[in-house]
Amino acid sequence: MTEPSNSKVIVEAEGIVKVLGTAPNEIKVLKGIDLELQTGELTLMMGPSGSGKTTLLSILGCILSPTQGQLTVAGLKTQNMSKEQLANLRRKHVGFVFQSYNLVPTLSAVENVMLALDLRDINGPGAYDQAAEALESVGLGHRINAMPSKMSGGEKQRVSIARALAGSPSVILADEPTAALDAKNGMAVMELLAQVAQDTRRAVLAVTHDHRTLQFADRIITIDDGRIAGSERPKISGKAVEMAAH
Ligand SMILES: Nc1ncnc2c1ncn2[C@@H]1O[C@H](COP(=O)(O)OP(=O)(O)O)[C@@H](O)[C@H]1O
Ligand SMILES: [Mg+2]
Repeated sequence: MTEPSNSKVIVEAEGIVKVLGTAPNEIKVLKGIDLELQTGELTLMMGPSGSGKTTLLSILGCILSPTQGQLTVAGLKTQNMSKEQLANLRRKHVGFVFQSYNLVPTLSAVENVMLALDLRDINGPGAYDQAAEALESVGLGHRINAMPSKMSGGEKQRVSIARALAGSPSVILADEPTAALDAKNGMAVMELLAQVAQDTRRAVLAVTHDHRTLQFADRIITIDDGRIAGSERPKISGKAVEMAAH
């Protein structure tokens, strides 16, 4: 098995359990998840609705705390961190991409990215250039002044990927980033995420339901009822081709 020699584990989850809701209606949504994300890799996650994918992404991105288990991000154990320390860790190391883009409608593409930079304390004269560069890197150099209402779904998702990349986080977490897009735009967005993951300083994890996008995965994880039901490295085993045919 060959792996990029300089890839490294950037997120490590061990025995993650998450209980949601309040007694007597508590549900054990995650039932003991072990998962490592490596830089230089696109991991795609599949699983039925309600299986715990969004909950897991929220925990890996330090939005939710696990009920049990350990999470290490960029070498830092999160267990005893305060809310503020967790927020700092998230700002520095994690970028999110959502199904519904979550762009600010009154801000242009470049302003949306600058807002994300500002949240990471990157402002001043260099911020505009940095935001424009991020948009160029996702193929939107010609659309930096466009308003969200004038952009296609594919373009909006590219802006949201540029926004996630702003500040160079080491982890990108994307929750069904192609679900609101037609097949062609969905494939293009997933291909872009695969490119984003080729950066050896960064790991990308994306939830998908579209088997055709699996061809871009370095690793495919299946989650079922709060547990990891399968993990494949298709580029090594040839499995993606087989799965994409279904
Ligand atoms: N805040 C919450 N309170 C109680 N149950 C929740 C909450 N959020 C999610 N759940 C439940 O947790 C389970 C997993 O949800 P989720 O992680 O969103 O799954 P997925 O993203 O795979 O569809 C579902 O049964 C859902 O109803
Ligand atoms: Mg979900």
